[in-house]
Order: sequence, then structure tokens, then C-alpha cells
Amino acid sequence: MEKLLISKCNVDELKSLSLEQLSQIFSNDNIHNEWENYGSKIDSLKIPEMAGGVNSGDQRALYYLVRMLKPISILEIGTHIGSSTVALAMAALKNREEGIETKIISTDIIDVNDLNERYWKTIGSPKSPSKIIDSIGCSEIVTFEIGNSIEKMKMNRKFNMIFLDGDHSAKTLYQEIPLALNSLDDGIIILHDYFPKLESLWGSQAPIVGPFLATQRFIEEGTPFNVIPFGELPWLTKFDSKITSLACLVKI
Ligand SMILES: C[S@@+](CC[C@H](N)C(=O)[O-])C[C@H]1O[C@@H](n2cnc3c(N)ncnc32)[C@H](O)[C@@H]1O
Repeated sequence: MEKLLISKCNVDELKSLSLEQLSQIFSNDNIHNEWENYGSKIDSLKIPEMAGGVNSGDQRALYYLVRMLKPISILEIGTHIGSSTVALAMAALKNREEGIETKIISTDIIDVNDLNERYWKTIGSPKSPSKIIDSIGCSEIVTFEIGNSIEKMKMNRKFNMIFLDGDHSAKTLYQEIPLALNSLDDGIIILHDYFPKLESLWGSQAPIVGPFLATQRFIEEGTPFNVIPFGELPWLTKFDSKITSLACLVKI
């Protein structure tokens, strides 16, 4: 990896979740029941699979995390076609029924909602992320922003959940992680495309190396966090498997 100035990490606000706690989140019967309804609502939006967004199994995992951890504020880096945004938003909508006002900022380096460029069309999605969010009654929950993740996380704002799914290069993640840690208020950082030990998760599919390399470097430098890969979920993800590339940072 390119030599960069060693980034200082402050893990004070990072939650210390265990794999067992995560397994409990993903096996909660109440959330299984509500997913019957919310999962099919998400399916009916016809956001394409295998088009650069998170797969439907990962959407489900994000939904469970927001329902169980009940963050008040979420930052998503990498809106793209909004696959992950809708899952986060649906969970926030359900949180609202319990009196919890979860707000989401979803940001992308390009204007994914631009009516002239129609980015979503080029990916094969029927509507822009903002139109999809309107259609599920979440326009007051989700705010879309345009800009570089680094600048967005220097804005002195606090979040209880940060989903890093933007530029997956090790160089960018090595800059994003300390900023994300500094932007946390008793929260978690979720990574996508985390390939433990750089091994493939699905047969011959080559791993994406950035998330593992960047976090590994912090760990080797003695930063007191660990990465917990979610591994196998209780439901299907992609390629007929239950494996996910989702992972989270936890305080040691
Ligand atoms: C893998 S896609 C995100 C998928 C999305 N979470 C979903 O489920 O539909 C990555 C997105 O991150 C955006 N991106 C890349 N580098 C970025 C950066 N430095 N800051 C913010 N967004 C970035 C890209 O434009 C792209 O839309």
C-alpha cells in the first residue's frame, strides 16, 4: 500500500460488539416477522441486483442492524442506486413507529439524483434514489448529499452508525476510517466488501482488497479496534450462498 502519513484513530466512541451479539441481532424473531412485510416492499421497488448496490441479503442485514441498534443518526458513504439506502430507510421508518427518529444522510461523490444525467437509468434502476425514497414515505428521513467522503466526514457532525461503501481503495479507506471514528457518537462503522485475509468469499470471484488492507494496517499499527466479518447470515445473499462481505469495526 502507498505510504501515507500514519492516521491517528480515536476509538472512544466505537461500540464493542461481539460476534455473539451480532448473531443475536440477525436471529431476532420479531425482526424476522416484520421483514416478511418490509423485505417484499423493498423487492417491489425493482432496484436491480448485481448492479453495484448491496445484494438483497445485505439489505436485510442492514435493516436488522438499524432495527436492533436503533441509531438516531446514520451516515452512508456511497448512495449509488440506493439499494442500501432503502434498507436503512425502511428500518428508520419502522423505528419511528416506536418513537425513535432515525435520520439518514446518504452521500455520493456524484449527483446520483441528477435529472439530466439520470445515473440510475445507466445502471438499469427504474427511479432515482430520491424518488425511491419518496415513494416509500421516507423523504423526511433521508437527506441526499453530494461530495467526497473525506470532506463530508470533516464537517464536525456526529453519527451512531456509519456505512462505508464508497471508494473501496485502501488509500481512501485509510483516510476515511479515522474521520469516521471521530464522527461517531457511541456507534458502529460498517464496512462493505470486506474480504478477510484477502480470500475469495464466492468461489473464483476475486476479492476487493482495500477494506481489508486499510483496516489491517491500523490493527498492525496498534489501533485498538478489531474487524468482525459478519460471515454467514441466516438467509441467502448472492451466488446461492449465505455469505456476506459486510463487517463492522468494534472497540477492543
Ligand atoms: C459500491 S457503490 C455503493 C452502493 C450503494 N451503497 C448501494 O447499495 O446501492 C459506490 C458508490 O460510492 C461512490 N463514491 C466513490 N468514491 C467516493 C467518495 N470518495 N466519496 C463519496 N462517494 C464515493 C460512487 O460514486 C458509487 O456510487
